[in-house]
Amino acid sequence: MREYEIAAIPADGIGPEVIAAGLQALEALQQRCGDFKLRVQHFDWGSDYYKAHGRMMPEDGVAQLKRFDAIFFGAVGAPDVPDDITLWGLRLPICQGFDQYANVRPTRILPGIVSPLAGVGPGDLDWVIVRENSEGEYSGHGGRAHRGLPEEVGTEVAIFTRVGVTRIMRYAFRLAQSRPRRLLTVVTKSNAQRHGMVMWDEIAAEVAPEFPDVAWDKMLVDAMTVRMTLKPRSLDTIVATNLHADILSDLAGALAGSLGVAPTPNIDPERRYPSMFEPIHGSAFDIAGKGIANPIATFWTAAQMLEHLGESAAAARLMSAVETVTSEGVLTPDVGGTATTQEVTDAVCRTIRGSN
Ligand code: NAI
Ligand code: MG
Repeated sequence: MREYEIAAIPADGIGPEVIAAGLQALEALQQRCGDFKLRVQHFDWGSDYYKAHGRMMPEDGVAQLKRFDAIFFGAVGAPDVPDDITLWGLRLPICQGFDQYANVRPTRILPGIVSPLAGVGPGDLDWVIVRENSEGEYSGHGGRAHRGLPEEVGTEVAIFTRVGVTRIMRYAFRLAQSRPRRLLTVVTKSNAQRHGMVMWDEIAAEVAPEFPDVAWDKMLVDAMTVRMTLKPRSLDTIVATNLHADILSDLAGALAGSLGVAPTPNIDPERRYPSMFEPIHGSAFDIAGKGIANPIATFWTAAQMLEHLGESAAAARLMSAVETVTSEGVLTPDVGGTATTQEVTDAVCRTIRGSN
């Protein structure tokens, strides 16, 4: 029996609802497959922990996570705690502390789910966005001075390093190479941002010859939103900075039907530290507690966690069950259905148990 230690951090809003759903599906898979075991430890970190202890997680939180094989994360954010505190207090210290520099964001239209783009169905939109996850616009450099005075300034400095850009570029080329179309689009804004972004373009051109079988092109990020919307078939693998890819992947999720279906691993490709698996969406206060959060993004991210752990057969079984359930029209309201989180979860677990 292969065994893995999993840290579950459901956190805020719909986070606990979708992580509970994900764990039920993982439990069904373990029973069905019978050859691997996930030992799950729960951490009650997040905004409630913050209200009780004045911090989002204990001071040694990241160190406590180090021994796990993977982290299964819900979402952070509460209406009554500033977003920069929740994000910088929990999610970003884990990503940065474990050097999870590749944030991989697959998007495709699942069967039974309707894209808001007319005439675009399953197979027409099948992308992976690779987001640089350790530096760039979210490196935390900058500051405030003269607070509250008319001459107050705030700076937000984007940091791009040769090491950081080169490693994410290689990761993206390698991923593009592993996909059937072998096509990579490098996104920057190197017309207006003429230092770090020009360096991105140059490093892309330097890395490209290592992957002669990958066709690649460049896009400016603003034009990229147009291409994603009007020519989704022209794209396959995409690499962009922390900020640009954050924005583009929300658009990608929406074009594939809903943010509620989009997963995202935060990977340390060198496997020095645990990687973290989460749905793209946030804590969605508007629907928290109503039992209607879409659990598909969390199932998909659970499948990616299994893949990362080397349990590819279980991962494929989970995704196949998800696609069976979506194609049968068992869908939550965000993708046009009437099912609850629990009904979708039960349908996926039933399909897993009945699969051969
Ligand atoms: P959000 O992703 O929470 O919600 C955006 C919209 O999508 C809402 O209308 C919501 O109902 C819908 N939605 C999201 N996930 C859904 C699901 N699984 N099923 C059905 N509908 C879903 O983004 P928003 O509203 O901008 O942020 C809310 C809070 O979440 C903020 O505090 C924000 O900082 C935080 N956040 C946290 C993230 C994380 O932990 N990784 C990522 C994004 C936002
Ligand atoms: Mg985002």
